[in-house]
This record gives sequence, C-alpha cells and structure tokens, in this order.
Amino acid sequence: MKIGSFDIGPGAFLAPMAGITNPPFRRLCLEMGASLTVTELISCHALLFLSAKEKNRTRKLGQKTVSLIERYPGESPLAVQIFGRDPEAMAEAARIAAGEGADIIDLNFGCPARKVIKNGEGSGVALMRDPPLLEEIAQRVVRAVDVPVTAKTRLGYGPTEKNAVEVARRIEGAGVQALCVHARTRDQGHSGPTDLALLREVVDAVGIPVIGNGGIRCKADADQMLAQTGCARVAVGQGSKGNPWIFSELVGEAFAAGLEDRIATCRRHLELYVRWIGEARAVIEMRKHASWYLKGFAGAAALRGRLGLAVDVASFHGLLDEVPVSEASAKEASPS
Ligand SMILES: Cc1cc2nc3c(=O)[nH]c(=O)nc-3n(C[C@H](O)[C@H](O)[C@H](O)COP(=O)(O)O)c2cc1C
Repeated sequence: MKIGSFDIGPGAFLAPMAGITNPPFRRLCLEMGASLTVTELISCHALLFLSAKEKNRTRKLGQKTVSLIERYPGESPLAVQIFGRDPEAMAEAARIAAGEGADIIDLNFGCPARKVIKNGEGSGVALMRDPPLLEEIAQRVVRAVDVPVTAKTRLGYGPTEKNAVEVARRIEGAGVQALCVHARTRDQGHSGPTDLALLREVVDAVGIPVIGNGGIRCKADADQMLAQTGCARVAVGQGSKGNPWIFSELVGEAFAAGLEDRIATCRRHLELYVRWIGEARAVIEMRKHASWYLKGFAGAAALRGRLGLAVDVASFHGLLDEVPVSEASAKEASPS
C-alpha cells in the first residue's frame, strides 16, 4: 500500500489519540510493527494563531503546538492531523503543518468531543452532517499542499445519520489518498459494537485504500475486520494502551509480553518522554501509561493507586522497582 510516495508496510496503523500518540508512544509502536502513526488532532486555528505570532516576531510557534507536530529523529512519514470547519483556515493550517515538516496531512472528520463538535455544527464528526462543506475542506487542503492528504471519519453522526458511504465518495473525489473509518457513530463515542457490514460498503464504494478502525484488541479481531470488510489495513487505538506489542501480534509475531517486558518498556517509555518534554511533564503524563502497563500481579491495583506519588524520575523508578517481577512472571494469568 502506498500513500503518495510512501510505502506503507504490512502492519496495523496506530489510530490517533489525544494525549497518547505523541512522539515517545509513536516510536514504541513503530518499533513493534505499526506501519503508520498519526499525531493527535491539532486545531487549525492554533496553527494559524501561532504562525501569525511568529511572523510578528513576538514568539515562535507555541511550544505545546510545536511539540504536537514534532517528529522523533528518524520518524518517516510524519502524519499530522488537523481539525477545523473553515476551508480557508484548514488550507492555511495544512500549509503551515507541511512547512513545519509534515509528510502527510490527515483531516479529522470523526472527533465527537463536545468542544470540537460544538452542538453538532462545528468541526470533527459534526462535518459529516454537512457533506458539501466537508468536501470543500478536503478539496481546499489537497490543493494547498504538495504532500498527500488522508482523512478519518466515522460511520455517521448518529444511528439515523449513517452517511459514511456518501462522505467517503466525496473525500475520494476531493483527491484524498487514503481514508480511515472508525466503524462506529458519533453517539457511540469510543466503545460499543462496530458495524462491519457498513464498513464493507465504504470499502466497496471507493478506490482509495480504506483503513478500518474500532474495537481491535487482538489478532483475531483484526483478521475478522480485514476478512469481513476487505479494508486495506486496520488501525488500533485503545488496544495499544500499555500494549504496544499488539502491533507485533498483528504482523504475526506472537509475543506474549510478560510483566518483566512491560516494566522494562514502561521505563523506556519514561526515558523517551523525558527526552521529549523534560522530567516534570514527562513524569505527570507517564502516570497514566504506567497504570496501563502495571497489570497482572498481586498488589497491582494498590501500586497503580500510588502512581500519583511519582514526582520525579527517581521516585517513578522506585515505584516500578516494587513490582515483584519474578513472582509475577508465574502469575501472569491473573491480572488484578
Ligand atoms: C483518548 C482518546 C483520544 C482520541 N483522540 C483522537 C484524535 O486526536 N484524533 C482522532 O482522529 N481520533 C481520536 N480518537 C479516536 C481513535 O483514533 C479511534 O478512532 C477510537 O479510539 C476507536 O478505535 P479503538 O476502538 O481501537 O480504540 C481518540 C480516542 C481516544 C480513546
């Protein structure tokens, strides 16, 4: 599979997740076999605002926004996801992101967060209610940049508004080169059953590669989605939390990560985080990741509860030192 000039390997995609799919986690997942990762969603207005300030020489692109579109050394391609409702602002934001080094621009037409969809008339999945506007955004962005453009949608805004097929056709017509479809509707949020029959209709309706997404927790789930829908790849979101090995499993390298592996990866994740944003923020943000890694031994729940006490790298490692690694290896079967 290709996106523009980029050869995309056989593995699953890492689905974008705000606060999670930043450079350290993307790096771990790519090392484990993910074939493409995407930044979390970034507001087109944040990019425009900060770029304008840079032009006025009052400051450089805001540190937080820059860190969101940052690539870790060697990461290629870097896919940056943007969201917004104004076609001109989206086109300009895409130009800025490409100018900052994005290799692929991904358009978010799937986010259900209230602040993004604003009463259903805003950005993200709300745009699925206005297919002509969604199409115009895609067209303007495609025309604005030299890099390939991809998009992410859902099945629709709600159970009676499942227009994923129409939207996919418009997206393809606009020149978008690949489409990831989260096989749920907006009202389902990020859980609940997926509708693989409708995902199949989307795959059949367009010629561009469709990446299926939703509910993949193991290889059997991925195989079922691939077989039932004919999608080109699957994208894994929550199934990768504390479990980047899922990407090895999905490329057929069965590897049951024992507790020792998880603790070692948690330490490495912390190290990558510190290099990315410094110790203070790294330690705070790593608490949630650690709680996902820390499972499968007596006392795991209590230790997760104490993660808030980790205030620096040394105390973080101190907590991880308490994990009874050898004893736990024998008890992998009973997570607590
Ligand atoms: C915490 C969280 C943050 C998310 N952030 C984004 C995002 O920034 N952009 C996006 O397109 N989807 C986002 N999603 C949706 C995921 O990419 C994915 O579509 C969804 O989780 C379903 O896949 P899964 O069942 O494998 O988790 C987010 C999901 C979660 C749980």
